Amino acid sequence: MHGGRRLEGVVRIGGAKNSILPILAAVLLNKSTDEIVLTNVPRISDVVKMVQILRSLGAEITWSGTDMVITTYNLSGFAVDEKLMREMRSTIFLMGAILARFGQVCISHPGGCAIGQRPIDLHLKGLMALGAQLREQHGYIYASCSRLIGTDIHLDFPSVGATENIMLAAVYARGTTVINNAAKEPEIVDLQNILNKMGAKICGAGTDQIKIVGVSQLHGVEYNVIPDRIVAGTYMMAAAATGGDVTLENVIPNHLDAVISKLREAGVQIREENDRIRIQAPEQINALEYVRTLPYPGFPTDLQAPIMSVLARAQGTSIIVENVFDSRFKHVGELNRMGAQIIVTSDNRTAVVHGVKRLTGASVSAPDLRAGAALVIAGLAAEGKTTIDGLEHINRGYENLENDLAKLGADIKRISSDD
Ligand code: UD1
Repeated sequence: MHGGRRLEGVVRIGGAKNSILPILAAVLLNKSTDEIVLTNVPRISDVVKMVQILRSLGAEITWSGTDMVITTYNLSGFAVDEKLMREMRSTIFLMGAILARFGQVCISHPGGCAIGQRPIDLHLKGLMALGAQLREQHGYIYASCSRLIGTDIHLDFPSVGATENIMLAAVYARGTTVINNAAKEPEIVDLQNILNKMGAKICGAGTDQIKIVGVSQLHGVEYNVIPDRIVAGTYMMAAAATGGDVTLENVIPNHLDAVISKLREAGVQIREENDRIRIQAPEQINALEYVRTLPYPGFPTDLQAPIMSVLARAQGTSIIVENVFDSRFKHVGELNRMGAQIIVTSDNRTAVVHGVKRLTGASVSAPDLRAGAALVIAGLAAEGKTTIDGLEHINRGYENLENDLAKLGADIKRISSDD
């Protein structure tokens, strides 16, 4: 890509990756012959892989455009293919759902984005509290139970995945499960909404206490996945980094409150209107004293790298503190190759971003999904040519990034490695 062009125009945001993935686990709970019809499904590689896993378990799936129809009556297996499992950490939610459906599950320890240690202890403790017996052997985890039994669970940290996994496991448990210190992300509310529409009895999602009253049967549903607030935030950052004027369509503005507030503080004008957000950025952004990532409703860790690319060219020095993951600054070295002046403290938690007048294009490599998005944003703002490799990371979470950016006026294209 060649940077330096101001982005202008309208972009439509697709369905949320972090909603559709647990929803695709939730569909496994449907023992009836009914269909589950999902709309606003994003065509990203994580969803493609999840569909492969579901099919390998016996689900029947048709996927056309953004619509997906799934039947899970004839599931044949409770063991998730190791190769697919290792490619995507999100498969961990399958554990709760498969255990609830079959009384047993076998998965290999999950892989996924290389951002810190990402343990799964909270998932496993939650399932054990519900009565699952666990055995770890040869890199596999086996869990079994006769019927899970509802109980009170307190999470040490409001883990998104652990909250979702426990919700899924508890849907068919006997009695009531209460998750305290639950994660409050909008994607958890989305999971509650689809499960309730399928016949589950869940309340409290979006607060730190979720109650699940066990039921014995779920049924089919038609459900529209919420828009992806992280993809929306990425386009907001791209607009901010290029002094652009961009309108996002199909967004839920209040899911982005923390992001909107930080960008306003940096001098960006933002107008919210029903399902649209308009971003009008000045040529030069102000530095931000602090950006601290936190569980929702705090500033999302998934936009920490993208906002760093914006602040790399701000007037003054910004401090970014990463509180959610322990190794999420892999983009810093690449941004510095592009002329940024960013220092990470020795505990790997804080980045000090000294704003520079200009970034310069370079060959860089996307180390993970959101860091890859951050490099795209930096490339859009940089002078000259930037080449990014490691696009497989970006494909995990962005449907049409280069085409949508090109429509907004960016000089960007995807090339194969031998071009
Ligand atoms: C989800 C999102 C991811 C986002 C993250 C935080 C999906 C598919 N992915 O990931 O995009 O960056 O939330 O908003 O929804 N932890 C433990 N033990 C556990 C589980 C988590 O210590 O058993 C720690 C993690 O190492 C991390 C923190 O808790 O430091 C947050 O992780 P978690 O909220 O679980 O993130 P994910 O569900 O993996």
